[in-house]
Amino acid sequence: MFLKPFETKQMFEAILGSIDEAIHVVNADGITIYYNQVAAINDGVEIGEVLGKHILDVFPSLNKQSSTLLKVIENGKPIYQQPQSYKNIKGQFIDTVNTTLPIKVGKRIIGAVEIAKDLSMIKSLSQSLLDLQGKVHPPKSKPVSISGAKYHFDDIVTASSEMKKIKNLARKAAHTTSPIMIYGETGTGKELLIQSIHNYSNRQNELFIAQNCATLPSTLLESTLFGTKKGTYTGSIDRAGLFELAHRGTLFLDEINSMTLEFQSKLLRVLEDGVIRRLGGTESYLVDTRIIVAMNEHPHRCIEKQQLRTDLYYRLNVIFIEIPPLRKRKEDISLLVYHFIKKYNYSFNKLVVDIDSDVLEKLEAHHWPGNVRELEHTIEFAMNMVENDKITMEHLPVYLKDIPVMKKNLAHIKSLRLTVEQTEIELINQALTKTNYNIMQTAKLLEIPRQTLQYKLKKYQIEL
Ligand SMILES: Nc1ncnc2c1ncn2[C@@H]1O[C@H](COP(=O)(O)OP(=O)(O)OP(=O)(O)O)[C@@H](O)[C@H]1O
Ligand SMILES: [Mg+2]
Repeated sequence: MFLKPFETKQMFEAILGSIDEAIHVVNADGITIYYNQVAAINDGVEIGEVLGKHILDVFPSLNKQSSTLLKVIENGKPIYQQPQSYKNIKGQFIDTVNTTLPIKVGKRIIGAVEIAKDLSMIKSLSQSLLDLQGKVHPPKSKPVSISGAKYHFDDIVTASSEMKKIKNLARKAAHTTSPIMIYGETGTGKELLIQSIHNYSNRQNELFIAQNCATLPSTLLESTLFGTKKGTYTGSIDRAGLFELAHRGTLFLDEINSMTLEFQSKLLRVLEDGVIRRLGGTESYLVDTRIIVAMNEHPHRCIEKQQLRTDLYYRLNVIFIEIPPLRKRKEDISLLVYHFIKKYNYSFNKLVVDIDSDVLEKLEAHHWPGNVRELEHTIEFAMNMVENDKITMEHLPVYLKDIPVMKKNLAHIKSLRLTVEQTEIELINQALTKTNYNIMQTAKLLEIPRQTLQYKLKKYQIEL
């Protein structure tokens, strides 16, 4: 059964009127022929004020260049996923992501349709952070923002020679402007190190801003990092992005491998010339923002998995720091344990002075997949449980109590075993790096059978 033309029209209107996106359709002359309720709410007008009228008559702040609908009619090129920030006629701030498509019959353009997805909620959350950072940025004064950098190199507790080398390298790097890339498993202290770098640098009195790239979709990330400019849509707003806000300071981009590859190429362009252009704007700003990035997966692996562009990798990899996991620096465990006991004595108002050696052995035998963060939480738990001045086995979380530990009278042999294991892990890692993670070549270099190498990789949980 065929529908009559007016029935088809009614059916389409019923469908388009019931969806959550704003829809605006104009004919080839720029006259609105369809405009739904969501679009009317977004723009702060009545449907009747828009229907049948030319778009520039209804939205006087637009012109032929800034109206995406008119642009699409003119050149026939679709515009996908364009972020728009604007203040509507009623003064409400609206944030959308728009797709504008030409409507064609054969090769002739008969109109254009714009579909706008409302992002105001997510955006207002992320922007409130931006605003907060903007407000606590009085010129030449030290920011006291919760998102500023609070850690210093002295806060990084370690007995490991490798970690000490890292601290020295980071101290040197703090004095330059080269990008820094930091890799380490979760909880190894990446943020701690990055904040320390900022606070040791001559940027210490400027802003330190951290942005986790995994928390925003790429369109929002783009406007968050680069800012927006008036003129993309009905009276849109001028807003600086994080690159501009962190001018002369440090911008820490966490989990950069979660950005889309397309956005990574935009980021690369900005990093290469230091020039920012706000979205929808034409002016360029030269910014002096130090970039530090972090990831908890090895960059080589991210490249293999096509989560990281090689060109961006080479740009960011000028100074590369790999923070070893806690299981590879077991000498740090007891030091950190006493450090956290002190910390929680202070905040819980307790007077714990010691920890049973059995407990320390347990802690040293654990694999610590959550690294220092997991250790800190373990001590926090014990400090909740303890009643007198010593932490004993009963104060440990159950899952740690079950870890097998060598008998006490074999303690000296355990330390030998640990030393051998640590040396093995170190040598295997060095050989893997040298051979670019080629198993055959690594086994050859270490003069062991491939199967033995594979067994050891598994045993020490060394990831390729
Ligand atoms: N060497 C250290 N000395 C003292 N505290 C540390 C050390 N390393 C890490 N911590 C503490 O462990 C916790 C986790 O550290 P941080 O947030 O820097 O880890 P991260 O590597 O950024 O982790 P993620 O990848 O999960 O973001 C923090 O509370 C931090 O203060
Ligand atoms: Mg972190």
